[in-house]
Amino acid sequence: MPGLPRALTLHGINQWEPDLANDIHDLELLLRSRVPLIVIETRDEKRVTQLFTKLALKLSMPVMAWSATTGLQRIDFEAAPQRHASEPRQALGQIKATNTPAIYLLLDFHPYLDDAYNIRLLKEIAQDHHDLGHTLVLVSHDLEVPPELENLAASFSLSLPDSERLEAIVREEAGHWSKSSPGNKVKTDRATLDAMVHQLRGLTTTDARRIIRSVIFDDGAINPDDLERITRARYRLIESNGALSCEFDTAEFSEVGGLQNLKHWVELRRTAFLEPGGDLDTPQGILLVGVQGGGKSLAAKAVAGMWGIPLLRLDFGTLYNKFFGETERNLREALKSAEAMAPCVLWIDEIEKAIASGDYDSGTSRRILGNLLTWMSERTAAVFIVATANVIEHLPPELIRKGRLDEIFFVDLPDAPTRAEIFAIHLRKRGLKPLDFDILSLAKLSEGFSGAEIEQAIVAARYLARADGGTVDTGHVREEIERTRPLSRVMAEKVAGLRAWAAGRTVPAN
Ligand SMILES: Nc1ncnc2c1ncn2[C@@H]1O[C@H](COP(=O)(O)OP(=O)(O)O)[C@@H](O)[C@H]1O
Ligand SMILES: [Mg+2]
Repeated sequence: MPGLPRALTLHGINQWEPDLANDIHDLELLLRSRVPLIVIETRDEKRVTQLFTKLALKLSMPVMAWSATTGLQRIDFEAAPQRHASEPRQALGQIKATNTPAIYLLLDFHPYLDDAYNIRLLKEIAQDHHDLGHTLVLVSHDLEVPPELENLAASFSLSLPDSERLEAIVREEAGHWSKSSPGNKVKTDRATLDAMVHQLRGLTTTDARRIIRSVIFDDGAINPDDLERITRARYRLIESNGALSCEFDTAEFSEVGGLQNLKHWVELRRTAFLEPGGDLDTPQGILLVGVQGGGKSLAAKAVAGMWGIPLLRLDFGTLYNKFFGETERNLREALKSAEAMAPCVLWIDEIEKAIASGDYDSGTSRRILGNLLTWMSERTAAVFIVATANVIEHLPPELIRKGRLDEIFFVDLPDAPTRAEIFAIHLRKRGLKPLDFDILSLAKLSEGFSGAEIEQAIVAARYLARADGGTVDTGHVREEIERTRPLSRVMAEKVAGLRAWAAGRTVPAN
């Protein structure tokens, strides 16, 4: 049957991790180039020790690991832990005094890097590389190399698994599950599997495997429901500050009445955004401008829903909160977190508030906006921006200028057919049958209403009906419509101004 997802059963495969080979190769080059201090910023410590154990064999060089709990311990073959030198100074002192060249992994050494004595010892060992032959490797989730060591250090990043590799991990874990549950195979469908792999991109092998395992071992299946779980798990992994939040109630475009042009635009770009690298330019972002209640926020959620990717919301109010710390750093961190969640939608709702609340004249919000625009033009991660604005007075020209964003859409008030569609959507949402209502006459009557106002009329009509002791009908809704003075009438001049502004500068979303 067309449209139905093709069922898929996953057979396990057994394969040595191929991506380990690239990292081993690159690390070997680094070691051979005689860099005395290697810095690896990662949460995947296990993988680093794995890499170095393999390298030890290849280079026939002993590898020692140090941590505050175990002290120094040889890891390239089974050796009894020595459990000595757990004090950083002691450990470094011992390394310095050792004549046999070795590689030393210093695990979570970062708290001790603000100690001048430790830095000095590290520097002396690194400087003596020619004589001693020791290579020091700092491994932590967060590493700031002290200036004294900068010229001696080189940083190394673990490669992240690509889609192919991620799917292989899914199959490996499916194999493990089948073994633990004989006769059963993990069930999924191609679309869900692809969506899952997309969501896992950017994660380390260890994190991805952990998430995959929990999804599979839960019920032996990978369902669309699991996708949200993956997003949640990912979001927990990135350290995001309060200015960035992950919104889980993304929407479907089927819940949005009208906005045909926008829907079509977004649909057309799905593949180019999710699978960049073809000959098409990667979509960057859009700005939605229009009267309040027209469905701009809803549409922003629907972009994430249609593409099946996380929706991250950037809140300028929090960013500017003076109790929250330094604004520019907050923005930098929030954007970095957004990049870590790529591919994703970064939603900046009511961007005009960013300018108003930040006191544009004092320079703070000017700077912040400048930083945001710079990031927008330089970012390489797949972060699609959806910004919305209700007013255009304060929108900075730099934001509107062509090239930053792909398109500026104007979300006008819905016309009669669209209003009918919106009535139907919201009646259905509340378990009511659109066919039981005279939707055409309601649509005609609600000229000048926004989507939000139409929804509100239905909500209020249900209260009215409840008070009457009956079920809601066309009469109740009509009464509410007649009672309402829509924003477009109250602020007719403003709306006209907005339309006039939009005419030459934007593309209609409807
Ligand atoms: N075009 C629309 N189709 C369906 N519902 C709409 C539409 N426009 C507005 N609504 C309803 O009104 C609510 C508020 O709209 P919202 O998206 O916040 O508007 P805006 O962001 O443009 O001010 C939405 O959550 C939705 O329930
Ligand atoms: Mg809104």
